[in-house]
Amino acid sequence: MSERTIVVVGGTSGIGLELAKDCIARGDRVVITGRDQGRTDEIAASLGAGASGVALDISEPESIAGQLTSIGQVHGLVLAAIERDQNTVRDYSVERAIRLVTLKLVGYTETVHALLDRLEPTVDTGIVLFGGRAKDLPYPGSTTVSTINGGVSGLVNTLALELAPIRVNALHPGIIGDSPFWASKPAGVLEQYESRTPGGKLATMADVVDATQFLLRNRGVSAVNLYVDRGWAIT
Ligand SMILES: NC(=O)c1ccc[n+]([C@@H]2O[C@H](COP(=O)([O-])OP(=O)(O)OC[C@H]3O[C@@H](n4cnc5c(N)ncnc54)[C@H](OP(=O)(O)O)[C@@H]3O)[C@@H](O)[C@H]2O)c1
Repeated sequence: MSERTIVVVGGTSGIGLELAKDCIARGDRVVITGRDQGRTDEIAASLGAGASGVALDISEPESIAGQLTSIGQVHGLVLAAIERDQNTVRDYSVERAIRLVTLKLVGYTETVHALLDRLEPTVDTGIVLFGGRAKDLPYPGSTTVSTINGGVSGLVNTLALELAPIRVNALHPGIIGDSPFWASKPAGVLEQYESRTPGGKLATMADVVDATQFLLRNRGVSAVNLYVDRGWAIT
């Protein structure tokens, strides 16, 4: 086992969980977070001896630092948490919007802040923030999602400047067809997106995990907004 510890916020499901599995396979230690301690512990146990779980709700940023006290030195931090949301400007829920904006923009930033004393100040330390292509390519109900994913593009630049030599990058997935959220959509939904993707197939969780590992580990890459969408935007 390596001496590296990777923290995956939102590591109990979807892309975050696949990433945690990949880190374990590479020999890293992994700390995954989810909102419920019991459920997070169970999922961490299923990953093997190198994994542990921490309960964290980043839509309540004041609680974040206290929840992270058990974590030691950190060599990689991936912020992948999301609460699924449907909101349009014509039928706007201020409450839902504030919750999601807080989760992704304040919650991601406060998590970095809270772990700063444990993030080694070297170029080998990587932070990856998850945005999403909905920032440029909205879908029905993505008003808040598009807004916060656009916010991630700005956030990554200021964090990369302030925290250097630690490297900070953002990954913006397109529609990831085999992720739990999209795989559970009714028949016909994914086909609309596939038909607008060059090659006719959507990017996969494995594609996103591979790109995340590149951003985490490549010593030359910082302040990058990387798109993993199989070229969706050119159609
Ligand atoms: N899937 C896609 O196609 C896609 C496309 C574009 C962007 N993205 C971005 O990629 C990232 C991962 O997406 P995904 O689809 O893999 O997610 P997902 O399967 O929905 O998993 C979300 C994760 O976030 C955690 N979480 C939910 N609410 C939270 C909160 N308030 N505080 C802390 N953690 C919370 C969940 O943990 P518990 O439920 O255990 O609490 C879970 O681990 C997200 O940032 C998303 O915006 C995904």
